[in-house]
Amino acid sequence: MRVLGIESSCDETGMAIYDTEQGLLAHALHSQVALHAEYGGVVPEIASRDHIQQALPLLQEVLNKSQLNCSEINAIAYTAGPGLAGALLVGAGIAHGLAFSLNKPIILIHHLEGHILSPLLGEQKPSFPFIALLISGGHTQLLKVDDIGQYSLLGETLDDAAGEAFDKTAQLLGLGYPGGAALSQLAKKGSSGYFTLPRPMLHSGTLDFSFSGLKTAVSVQIQKLKATNHFNQTNCANLAHDFVNAIVDVLISKTLFALKKTKIKQLVVAGGVSANEQLRTALDVAASQNKANVLFPDLKFCTDNGAMIALAGALRIKRWPEQALKNHHFIKIRPRWPLNMI
Ligand code: KG4
Ligand code: ZN
Repeated sequence: MRVLGIESSCDETGMAIYDTEQGLLAHALHSQVALHAEYGGVVPEIASRDHIQQALPLLQEVLNKSQLNCSEINAIAYTAGPGLAGALLVGAGIAHGLAFSLNKPIILIHHLEGHILSPLLGEQKPSFPFIALLISGGHTQLLKVDDIGQYSLLGETLDDAAGEAFDKTAQLLGLGYPGGAALSQLAKKGSSGYFTLPRPMLHSGTLDFSFSGLKTAVSVQIQKLKATNHFNQTNCANLAHDFVNAIVDVLISKTLFALKKTKIKQLVVAGGVSANEQLRTALDVAASQNKANVLFPDLKFCTDNGAMIALAGALRIKRWPEQALKNHHFIKIRPRWPLNMI
């Protein structure tokens, strides 16, 4: 069975075709980063308009790459939420239009489920149960994953998501939007120990996170540097270095606590921040010290993409064929969709 996956929840348009026998056949992605950069964040109206422009050329691209035509696709999966309503409607509209004209079944996918299952696109696949550390621009969650569709929330951020903390801090350091990757690069040029930054909720005894205080602490340090004329490249790199250390420390400590609490030895890290090099290296070390196995998605599937949606759709239809809807007349999106409501 071949499933077309469509992702359009935020600022990336993704298309992919996943075959349940052969794996991923093709994927294509368009990032809107350049369009939103000058506004310092995602502008929903611009996002929707660009998804409309990009969707069909990307569809053509994945069909060409996989040497298939539309009628050879057996089902269509699209991100129904959570995300920006207008952006989601573009993917939903394209998915429903295709399903209607081709008379193929359609399945609604939860964006976070796509991220959680994304390491299953790799060679080395996690087995159930596993702990998932989901770290994206909008979410920071620790989950116990017993099977496809069985996700128990163990803890989450009480304020900013990890990616949001990266982006806001990058903005403070003048690195543009979204600044996660740029901040991580700058951090590599710095050294530790020049700034004292907090590790919020490190000893809270819970699996919840809080990152807004960390961003505020960076902001205070920047103000001090500016007031004393020391806001220069070296100090920014050192500050970025200490920021990344602080965030990595908290993520690792909470994740190890989750593994200990649940006695599970398998860890999956997914979402945009899982591309972070410092975190990947530190988690590899921490996991092996704790005799746990950690798996990350391939770098190209850490941030939003269509492949994870096609995969989630294929796994769901294979397991629960009745979830694929044959009625294409009601275009449905769920901009606010808690993971436990799928
Ligand atoms: O999963 P994603 O593409 O979108 C959401 O579903 O939110 O995650 C985007 C987030 C952004 O905040 C971005 O700055 C962050 O992932 N990110 C990174 C890195 N690459 C992307 N953060 C830290 N280090 C990176 N290398
Ligand atoms: Zn995402």
